Amino acid sequence: MVTENTAKRSVLLIVTGSIAATKVPELIRLLKDKAMDVTAVLTEAGGYFISPLTLASLTGKRVYSELFSIDEETEMGHIQLSRKSDLIVVAPATANTIAKMAQGISDDLASTILLATDKPVLVVPAMNVRMWEHPATQRNVQTLRKDGVVFVGPSKGALACGEEGHGRMVEPSEIVDEIQRFYDFKKLGRPLQGKKALVTSGPTVEAIDPVRYIANRSSGKQGHAIAAALKALGADVTLVSGPTALPDPVGVKMVKVESAREMLDACYKALPVDMAVCAAAVSDWRSSNLSEQKIKKPAKKSMKPEDMLTFTFMENPDILECLGKHGDKRPQLVVGFAAETENVVKNAKAKMQRKGCDWILANDVSGGSVFGSEDTEIHYITVDGEEHWPLMSKRDVAFTLASRMSDYFSIDPKLRKNNVTKLLL
Ligand code: C5P
Repeated sequence: MVTENTAKRSVLLIVTGSIAATKVPELIRLLKDKAMDVTAVLTEAGGYFISPLTLASLTGKRVYSELFSIDEETEMGHIQLSRKSDLIVVAPATANTIAKMAQGISDDLASTILLATDKPVLVVPAMNVRMWEHPATQRNVQTLRKDGVVFVGPSKGALACGEEGHGRMVEPSEIVDEIQRFYDFKKLGRPLQGKKALVTSGPTVEAIDPVRYIANRSSGKQGHAIAAALKALGADVTLVSGPTALPDPVGVKMVKVESAREMLDACYKALPVDMAVCAAAVSDWRSSNLSEQKIKKPAKKSMKPEDMLTFTFMENPDILECLGKHGDKRPQLVVGFAAETENVVKNAKAKMQRKGCDWILANDVSGGSVFGSEDTEIHYITVDGEEHWPLMSKRDVAFTLASRMSDYFSIDPKLRKNNVTKLLL
Protein backbone atom coordinates (compact mmCIF):
# COMPACT_ATOMS: atom_id res chain seq x y z
CA MET A 1 0.00 0.00 0.00
CA VAL A 2 1.07 3.54 -0.62
CA THR A 3 1.79 5.33 2.64
CA GLU A 4 1.36 9.01 2.95
CA ASN A 5 3.33 11.48 4.95
CA THR A 6 0.58 13.96 5.41
CA ALA A 7 0.53 16.91 7.69
CA LYS A 8 -3.22 17.03 7.95
CA ARG A 9 -5.83 14.53 6.91
CA SER A 10 -9.24 15.38 8.26
CA VAL A 11 -12.29 13.19 8.52
CA LEU A 12 -15.77 14.31 9.53
CA LEU A 13 -17.35 11.35 11.32
CA ILE A 14 -21.15 11.28 11.53
CA VAL A 15 -22.43 8.85 14.16
CA THR A 16 -26.08 7.80 13.89
CA GLY A 17 -28.35 5.71 16.12
CA SER A 18 -27.24 2.09 16.13
CA ILE A 19 -25.78 -0.22 18.76
CA ALA A 20 -22.72 -0.39 16.45
CA ALA A 21 -21.94 3.15 17.68
CA THR A 22 -20.21 1.37 20.56
CA LYS A 23 -17.43 0.47 18.05
CA VAL A 24 -16.85 4.14 17.23
CA PRO A 25 -14.26 4.74 20.00
CA GLU A 26 -12.04 2.04 18.45
CA LEU A 27 -12.54 3.59 15.01
CA ILE A 28 -11.50 7.02 16.29
CA ARG A 29 -8.46 5.55 18.04
CA LEU A 30 -7.33 3.80 14.84
CA LEU A 31 -7.78 6.99 12.81
CA LYS A 32 -5.83 8.99 15.36
CA ASP A 33 -3.07 6.35 15.26
CA LYS A 34 -2.75 7.19 11.56
CA ALA A 35 -2.45 10.87 12.47
CA MET A 36 -5.88 11.73 11.09
CA ASP A 37 -7.84 14.59 12.49
CA VAL A 38 -11.40 13.57 13.41
CA THR A 39 -14.38 15.83 14.03
CA ALA A 40 -17.54 14.09 15.24
CA VAL A 41 -21.18 14.88 14.52
CA LEU A 42 -23.73 12.98 16.59
CA THR A 43 -27.41 12.55 15.69
CA GLU A 44 -30.08 12.60 18.38
CA ALA A 45 -30.55 8.81 18.09
CA GLY A 46 -26.78 8.29 18.09
CA GLY A 47 -26.70 10.05 21.46
CA TYR A 48 -28.62 7.10 22.98
CA PHE A 49 -25.70 4.78 22.18
CA ILE A 50 -22.62 6.93 22.72
CA SER A 51 -22.22 10.09 24.72
CA PRO A 52 -20.98 13.39 23.29
CA LEU A 53 -18.46 13.44 26.12
CA THR A 54 -16.92 10.13 24.97
CA LEU A 55 -16.63 11.44 21.41
CA ALA A 56 -15.20 14.77 22.58
CA SER A 57 -12.61 13.04 24.77
CA LEU A 58 -11.48 10.74 21.98
CA THR A 59 -11.40 13.32 19.19
CA GLY A 60 -10.10 16.05 21.48
CA LYS A 61 -12.63 18.38 19.93
CA ARG A 62 -16.09 19.79 20.28
CA VAL A 63 -18.87 17.42 19.14
CA TYR A 64 -21.59 18.88 16.94
CA SER A 65 -25.21 17.77 17.08
CA GLU A 66 -27.58 20.74 16.91
CA LEU A 67 -28.72 22.40 13.70
CA PHE A 68 -30.30 25.35 15.45
CA SER A 69 -27.75 26.11 18.12
CA ILE A 70 -26.40 29.65 18.28
CA ASP A 71 -23.39 28.30 20.11
CA GLU A 72 -22.48 25.66 17.52
CA GLU A 73 -23.41 27.76 14.48
CA THR A 74 -21.26 30.69 15.50
CA GLU A 75 -18.27 28.47 16.23
CA MET A 76 -18.62 26.26 13.12
CA GLY A 77 -21.70 26.50 10.84
CA HIS A 78 -23.18 23.44 9.14
CA ILE A 79 -21.88 24.60 5.74
CA GLN A 80 -18.34 24.95 7.07
CA LEU A 81 -18.61 21.54 8.74
CA SER A 82 -19.69 19.99 5.45
CA ARG A 83 -16.75 21.43 3.50
CA LYS A 84 -13.84 21.55 5.92
CA SER A 85 -12.84 17.86 5.96
CA ASP A 86 -11.36 15.78 3.14
CA LEU A 87 -13.97 13.09 3.59
CA ILE A 88 -17.25 12.45 5.40
CA VAL A 89 -17.72 9.03 7.01
CA VAL A 90 -21.15 7.99 8.26
CA ALA A 91 -20.51 5.17 10.74
CA PRO A 92 -22.68 3.55 11.82
CA ALA A 93 -25.29 4.54 9.22
CA THR A 94 -28.86 3.55 9.98
CA ALA A 95 -31.57 2.74 7.42
CA ASN A 96 -33.19 6.05 8.36
CA THR A 97 -30.07 8.12 7.65
CA ILE A 98 -29.50 6.27 4.36
CA ALA A 99 -33.14 6.93 3.38
CA LYS A 100 -32.81 10.62 4.22
CA MET A 101 -29.59 10.88 2.21
CA ALA A 102 -31.19 9.21 -0.81
CA GLN A 103 -34.17 11.58 -0.67
CA GLY A 104 -32.19 14.72 0.10
CA ILE A 105 -33.98 15.30 3.40
CA SER A 106 -32.18 17.71 5.70
CA ASP A 107 -34.02 17.85 9.01
CA ASP A 108 -31.12 17.72 11.45
CA LEU A 109 -27.46 18.70 11.51
CA ALA A 110 -26.13 15.38 10.14
CA SER A 111 -28.52 15.21 7.16
CA THR A 112 -28.03 18.92 6.41
CA ILE A 113 -24.25 18.45 6.30
CA LEU A 114 -24.67 15.45 4.00
CA LEU A 115 -26.85 17.50 1.64
CA ALA A 116 -24.58 20.54 1.70
CA THR A 117 -21.27 18.76 1.23
CA ASP A 118 -19.07 18.77 -1.86
CA LYS A 119 -16.75 16.15 -0.38
CA PRO A 120 -16.65 12.35 -0.93
CA VAL A 121 -18.95 10.39 1.39
CA LEU A 122 -18.33 6.92 2.80
CA VAL A 123 -21.31 5.13 4.35
CA VAL A 124 -20.93 2.21 6.76
CA PRO A 125 -24.38 0.66 7.27
CA ALA A 126 -25.49 -1.09 10.46
CA MET A 127 -29.01 -2.40 10.87
CA ASN A 128 -31.27 -5.43 11.18
CA VAL A 129 -31.03 -7.85 8.24
CA ARG A 130 -34.68 -7.34 7.22
CA MET A 131 -34.19 -3.58 7.20
CA TRP A 132 -31.05 -3.96 5.06
CA GLU A 133 -32.73 -6.35 2.64
CA HIS A 134 -35.94 -4.33 2.41
CA PRO A 135 -36.50 -3.16 -1.18
CA ALA A 136 -36.77 0.43 0.06
CA THR A 137 -33.29 0.33 1.63
CA GLN A 138 -31.83 -1.44 -1.40
CA ARG A 139 -33.40 1.22 -3.66
CA ASN A 140 -31.87 3.96 -1.51
CA VAL A 141 -28.46 2.29 -1.56
CA GLN A 142 -28.62 2.02 -5.36
CA THR A 143 -29.54 5.70 -5.66
CA LEU A 144 -26.67 6.75 -3.41
CA ARG A 145 -24.18 4.50 -5.23
CA LYS A 146 -25.19 6.18 -8.48
CA ASP A 147 -24.57 9.52 -6.79
CA GLY A 148 -21.02 8.36 -6.07
CA VAL A 149 -21.43 7.49 -2.38
CA VAL A 150 -19.12 4.62 -1.38
CA PHE A 151 -20.51 1.85 0.84
CA VAL A 152 -18.41 -0.33 3.12
CA GLY A 153 -20.31 -3.42 4.24
CA PRO A 154 -22.50 -4.38 5.93
CA SER A 155 -21.02 -7.76 6.77
CA LYS A 156 -22.88 -10.96 7.52
CA GLY A 157 -23.19 -12.56 10.92
CA ALA A 158 -25.02 -12.52 14.25
CA LEU A 159 -26.84 -9.21 14.77
CA ALA A 160 -27.45 -7.44 18.06
CA CYS A 161 -31.21 -8.07 17.68
CA GLY A 162 -30.60 -11.84 17.77
CA GLU A 163 -31.15 -12.46 14.04
CA GLU A 164 -28.50 -13.58 11.54
CA GLY A 165 -27.58 -12.10 8.18
CA HIS A 166 -26.29 -8.98 6.46
CA GLY A 167 -26.48 -5.90 8.64
CA ARG A 168 -23.42 -5.92 10.88
CA MET A 169 -21.23 -2.86 10.71
CA VAL A 170 -17.82 -3.91 9.33
CA GLU A 171 -14.93 -3.87 11.80
CA PRO A 172 -13.28 -0.49 12.49
CA SER A 173 -10.02 -1.73 10.90
CA GLU A 174 -11.87 -2.30 7.60
CA ILE A 175 -13.32 1.21 7.74
CA VAL A 176 -9.83 2.58 8.33
CA ASP A 177 -8.50 0.54 5.35
CA GLU A 178 -11.15 2.11 3.15
CA ILE A 179 -10.31 5.60 4.42
CA GLN A 180 -6.61 4.92 3.82
CA ARG A 181 -7.46 3.76 0.27
CA PHE A 182 -9.28 7.05 -0.29
CA TYR A 183 -6.13 8.95 0.67
CA ASP A 184 -3.95 6.67 -1.47
CA PHE A 185 -6.07 7.47 -4.54
CA LYS A 186 -6.20 11.15 -3.61
CA LYS A 187 -2.41 11.26 -3.45
CA LEU A 188 -2.03 9.79 -6.94
CA GLY A 189 -4.52 12.25 -8.44
CA ARG A 190 -5.78 11.50 -11.97
CA PRO A 191 -2.67 10.39 -13.88
CA LEU A 192 -4.71 8.32 -16.34
CA GLN A 193 -6.90 11.23 -17.43
CA GLY A 194 -7.30 11.07 -21.22
CA LYS A 195 -6.40 7.35 -21.38
CA LYS A 196 -8.83 4.59 -22.36
CA ALA A 197 -8.99 1.31 -20.49
CA LEU A 198 -10.78 -1.96 -21.18
CA VAL A 199 -11.39 -4.45 -18.36
CA THR A 200 -13.03 -7.88 -18.52
CA SER A 201 -14.63 -9.32 -15.39
CA GLY A 202 -16.81 -12.08 -14.00
CA PRO A 203 -17.55 -15.51 -15.42
CA THR A 204 -18.86 -16.34 -18.87
CA VAL A 205 -21.99 -18.41 -19.23
CA GLU A 206 -22.17 -20.94 -22.04
CA ALA A 207 -25.59 -22.26 -23.00
CA ILE A 208 -26.24 -25.99 -23.38
CA ASP A 209 -29.91 -25.61 -24.24
CA PRO A 210 -32.41 -22.71 -23.81
CA VAL A 211 -32.51 -23.13 -20.02
CA ARG A 212 -29.19 -24.71 -19.00
CA TYR A 213 -25.63 -23.52 -19.10
CA ILE A 214 -22.11 -24.15 -17.87
CA ALA A 215 -20.35 -21.41 -15.95
CA ASN A 216 -17.81 -21.01 -13.16
CA ARG A 217 -17.57 -19.53 -9.68
CA SER A 218 -15.97 -16.20 -10.54
CA SER A 219 -17.54 -13.40 -8.47
CA GLY A 220 -16.16 -10.56 -10.61
CA LYS A 221 -14.78 -8.82 -7.49
CA GLN A 222 -11.25 -8.47 -8.88
CA GLY A 223 -12.21 -7.20 -12.34
CA HIS A 224 -14.82 -4.77 -11.01
CA ALA A 225 -12.32 -3.43 -8.44
CA ILE A 226 -9.72 -2.89 -11.20
CA ALA A 227 -12.26 -1.03 -13.35
CA ALA A 228 -13.16 1.19 -10.36
CA ALA A 229 -9.47 1.81 -9.54
CA LEU A 230 -8.59 2.80 -13.13
CA LYS A 231 -11.64 5.05 -13.20
CA ALA A 232 -10.57 6.67 -9.91
CA LEU A 233 -7.18 7.45 -11.47
CA GLY A 234 -8.93 9.26 -14.30
CA ALA A 235 -9.15 6.65 -17.10
CA ASP A 236 -12.14 6.35 -19.38
CA VAL A 237 -13.10 2.74 -18.58
CA THR A 238 -15.18 0.16 -20.44
CA LEU A 239 -16.00 -2.83 -18.24
CA VAL A 240 -17.14 -5.93 -20.13
CA SER A 241 -18.57 -8.37 -17.64
CA GLY A 242 -20.32 -11.70 -17.47
CA PRO A 243 -23.18 -12.08 -14.95
CA THR A 244 -22.24 -11.10 -11.38
CA ALA A 245 -24.11 -10.02 -8.25
CA LEU A 246 -22.00 -6.86 -7.95
CA PRO A 247 -23.20 -3.29 -8.40
CA ASP A 248 -21.86 -1.55 -11.53
CA PRO A 249 -18.81 0.55 -10.61
CA VAL A 250 -19.74 4.23 -10.77
CA GLY A 251 -18.76 6.12 -13.90
CA VAL A 252 -17.57 3.20 -16.03
CA LYS A 253 -19.15 2.20 -19.33
CA MET A 254 -20.70 -1.15 -18.49
CA VAL A 255 -21.22 -3.81 -21.18
CA LYS A 256 -23.01 -6.89 -19.86
CA VAL A 257 -22.48 -10.13 -21.75
CA GLU A 258 -23.01 -13.84 -21.23
CA SER A 259 -20.82 -15.99 -23.47
CA ALA A 260 -17.12 -15.81 -24.32
CA ARG A 261 -17.93 -14.93 -27.90
CA GLU A 262 -20.15 -12.04 -26.78
CA MET A 263 -17.34 -10.91 -24.47
CA LEU A 264 -14.83 -10.95 -27.33
CA ASP A 265 -17.22 -8.98 -29.61
CA ALA A 266 -17.73 -6.37 -26.87
CA CYS A 267 -13.95 -6.10 -26.36
CA TYR A 268 -13.32 -5.62 -30.07
CA LYS A 269 -16.03 -2.92 -30.15
CA ALA A 270 -14.27 -1.08 -27.29
CA LEU A 271 -10.97 -0.84 -29.24
CA PRO A 272 -8.86 1.19 -29.62
CA VAL A 273 -7.85 1.51 -25.97
CA ASP A 274 -4.52 2.34 -24.33
CA MET A 275 -4.66 -0.51 -21.84
CA ALA A 276 -6.56 -3.76 -21.31
CA VAL A 277 -6.86 -5.92 -18.22
CA CYS A 278 -8.40 -9.37 -18.69
CA ALA A 279 -9.64 -10.42 -15.27
CA ALA A 280 -12.66 -12.41 -16.48
CA ALA A 281 -12.79 -16.14 -15.85
CA VAL A 282 -13.70 -16.98 -19.41
CA SER A 283 -15.02 -20.45 -20.00
CA ASP A 284 -12.47 -22.29 -22.11
CA TRP A 285 -15.18 -24.42 -23.67
CA ARG A 286 -18.69 -24.16 -25.05
CA SER A 287 -21.11 -26.85 -26.08
CA SER A 288 -20.48 -27.87 -29.66
CA ASN A 289 -24.03 -29.13 -30.12
CA LEU A 290 -26.15 -26.38 -28.58
CA SER A 291 -29.68 -27.74 -28.41
CA GLU A 292 -32.41 -25.43 -29.67
CA GLN A 293 -34.97 -27.24 -27.49
CA LYS A 294 -34.79 -28.09 -23.81
CA ILE A 295 -33.05 -31.45 -23.53
CA LYS A 296 -35.53 -34.01 -22.19
CA LYS A 297 -34.91 -36.69 -19.59
CA PRO A 298 -35.00 -40.21 -21.07
CA ALA A 299 -38.39 -41.91 -20.80
CA LYS A 300 -36.98 -44.88 -18.92
CA LYS A 301 -34.08 -45.08 -16.49
CA SER A 302 -31.06 -46.82 -17.92
CA MET A 303 -27.40 -47.23 -16.94
CA LYS A 304 -26.35 -48.38 -20.41
CA PRO A 305 -23.53 -46.31 -21.94
CA GLU A 306 -25.52 -45.77 -25.15
CA ASP A 307 -28.36 -44.18 -23.10
CA MET A 308 -26.08 -41.69 -21.27
CA LEU A 309 -26.38 -38.03 -22.06
CA THR A 310 -23.10 -36.92 -23.58
CA PHE A 311 -21.91 -33.44 -24.40
CA THR A 312 -19.07 -32.46 -26.62
CA PHE A 313 -17.34 -29.15 -26.15
CA MET A 314 -15.37 -26.93 -28.47
CA GLU A 315 -12.79 -24.35 -27.56
CA ASN A 316 -13.79 -20.74 -26.97
CA PRO A 317 -11.76 -17.81 -28.28
CA ASP A 318 -9.04 -16.64 -25.90
CA ILE A 319 -9.85 -12.97 -25.37
CA LEU A 320 -6.55 -12.08 -23.71
CA GLU A 321 -4.64 -13.67 -26.57
CA CYS A 322 -6.84 -11.94 -29.18
CA LEU A 323 -6.04 -8.57 -27.57
CA GLY A 324 -2.37 -9.37 -26.89
CA LYS A 325 -1.79 -10.41 -30.49
CA HIS A 326 -4.09 -7.90 -32.14
CA GLY A 327 -2.45 -6.39 -35.19
CA ASP A 328 -3.22 -2.70 -35.59
CA LYS A 329 -5.27 -2.10 -32.46
CA ARG A 330 -3.22 -3.87 -29.82
CA PRO A 331 -3.49 -1.86 -26.57
CA GLN A 332 -0.11 -0.48 -25.46
CA LEU A 333 -0.38 -2.38 -22.19
CA VAL A 334 -2.13 -5.77 -21.98
CA VAL A 335 -2.47 -7.40 -18.56
CA GLY A 336 -3.70 -10.91 -17.85
CA PHE A 337 -4.38 -13.06 -14.83
CA ALA A 338 -3.36 -16.64 -14.22
CA ALA A 339 -4.97 -18.93 -11.70
CA GLU A 340 -2.53 -21.79 -11.20
CA THR A 341 -2.54 -24.85 -8.99
CA GLU A 342 1.18 -25.75 -9.36
CA ASN A 343 4.44 -24.17 -10.55
CA VAL A 344 2.63 -20.84 -10.32
CA VAL A 345 5.38 -18.52 -11.59
CA LYS A 346 6.76 -20.86 -14.27
CA ASN A 347 3.33 -21.59 -15.71
CA ALA A 348 2.29 -17.95 -15.56
CA LYS A 349 5.42 -16.86 -17.45
CA ALA A 350 4.71 -19.41 -20.16
CA LYS A 351 1.12 -18.17 -20.33
CA MET A 352 2.31 -14.59 -20.68
CA GLN A 353 4.37 -15.49 -23.72
CA ARG A 354 1.74 -17.73 -25.24
CA LYS A 355 -0.94 -15.06 -24.99
CA GLY A 356 1.26 -12.11 -25.93
CA CYS A 357 0.50 -10.04 -22.85
CA ASP A 358 2.89 -7.62 -21.12
CA TRP A 359 2.17 -8.36 -17.49
CA ILE A 360 0.52 -11.25 -15.75
CA LEU A 361 -0.86 -11.40 -12.21
CA ALA A 362 -0.68 -14.98 -11.02
CA ASN A 363 -2.31 -16.48 -7.99
CA ASP A 364 -2.15 -19.90 -6.46
CA VAL A 365 -5.64 -21.42 -6.41
CA SER A 366 -4.58 -24.88 -5.30
CA GLY A 367 -6.64 -24.53 -2.09
CA GLY A 368 -9.64 -23.30 -4.12
CA SER A 369 -9.84 -20.23 -1.87
CA VAL A 370 -9.50 -17.31 -4.30
CA PHE A 371 -12.84 -17.46 -6.10
CA GLY A 372 -15.33 -15.21 -4.33
CA SER A 373 -12.96 -14.43 -1.48
CA GLU A 374 -11.92 -10.92 -0.49
CA ASP A 375 -8.18 -11.52 -0.30
CA THR A 376 -5.56 -12.86 -2.64
CA GLU A 377 -1.79 -13.23 -2.91
CA ILE A 378 -0.25 -12.20 -6.21
CA HIS A 379 2.90 -12.81 -8.22
CA TYR A 380 3.28 -9.79 -10.47
CA ILE A 381 5.20 -10.98 -13.53
CA THR A 382 6.63 -8.91 -16.35
CA VAL A 383 9.13 -9.72 -19.07
CA ASP A 384 11.88 -8.56 -16.75
CA GLY A 385 11.09 -10.39 -13.59
CA GLU A 386 8.74 -11.20 -10.81
CA GLU A 387 7.53 -9.53 -7.65
CA HIS A 388 5.51 -11.02 -4.81
CA TRP A 389 2.57 -9.05 -3.44
CA PRO A 390 1.65 -10.47 0.00
CA LEU A 391 -1.91 -11.45 0.88
CA MET A 392 -4.07 -8.35 0.43
CA SER A 393 -7.65 -7.50 -0.42
CA LYS A 394 -8.69 -7.64 -4.07
CA ARG A 395 -9.35 -3.91 -3.84
CA ASP A 396 -5.76 -3.33 -2.73
CA VAL A 397 -4.56 -5.54 -5.61
CA ALA A 398 -6.66 -3.32 -7.91
CA PHE A 399 -5.15 -0.16 -6.45
CA THR A 400 -1.59 -1.50 -6.66
CA LEU A 401 -2.07 -2.65 -10.25
CA ALA A 402 -3.75 0.62 -11.30
CA SER A 403 -0.91 2.65 -9.77
CA ARG A 404 1.66 0.45 -11.61
CA MET A 405 -0.27 1.03 -14.81
CA SER A 406 -0.24 4.77 -14.28
CA ASP A 407 3.55 4.58 -13.61
CA TYR A 408 3.90 2.76 -16.92
CA PHE A 409 2.09 5.51 -18.81
CA SER A 410 4.16 8.18 -17.11
CA ILE A 411 7.34 6.74 -18.65
CA ASP A 412 8.62 7.92 -22.00
CA PRO A 413 7.12 5.47 -24.56
CA LYS A 414 10.59 4.81 -26.05
CA LEU A 415 11.77 3.50 -22.68
CA ARG A 416 8.72 1.36 -21.95
CA LYS A 417 8.27 -2.26 -22.96
CA ASN A 418 11.16 -4.38 -21.68
CA ASN A 419 12.56 -1.70 -19.43
CA VAL A 420 9.39 -0.92 -17.61
CA THR A 421 9.95 -3.11 -14.57
CA LYS A 422 13.52 -1.93 -14.06
CA LEU A 423 12.31 1.62 -13.97
CA LEU A 424 9.54 0.84 -11.52
CA LEU A 425 11.51 -1.16 -8.99
O1 C5P B 1 -5.51 -19.85 -19.77
P1 C5P B 1 -6.10 -19.25 -18.55
O2 C5P B 1 -7.59 -19.35 -18.50
O3 C5P B 1 -5.47 -19.69 -17.28
O4 C5P B 1 -5.72 -17.69 -18.69
C1 C5P B 1 -6.15 -16.74 -17.78
C2 C5P B 1 -6.10 -15.39 -18.41
O5 C5P B 1 -6.57 -15.41 -19.74
C3 C5P B 1 -7.00 -14.41 -17.70
O6 C5P B 1 -6.45 -13.12 -17.84
C4 C5P B 1 -8.31 -14.53 -18.47
O7 C5P B 1 -9.10 -13.36 -18.35
C5 C5P B 1 -7.82 -14.74 -19.87
N1 C5P B 1 -8.67 -15.58 -20.73
C6 C5P B 1 -9.36 -14.98 -21.77
N2 C5P B 1 -10.12 -15.77 -22.60
C7 C5P B 1 -10.18 -17.10 -22.43
C8 C5P B 1 -9.48 -17.72 -21.38
C9 C5P B 1 -8.74 -16.92 -20.54
O8 C5P B 1 -9.32 -13.77 -21.91
N3 C5P B 1 -10.92 -17.83 -23.26
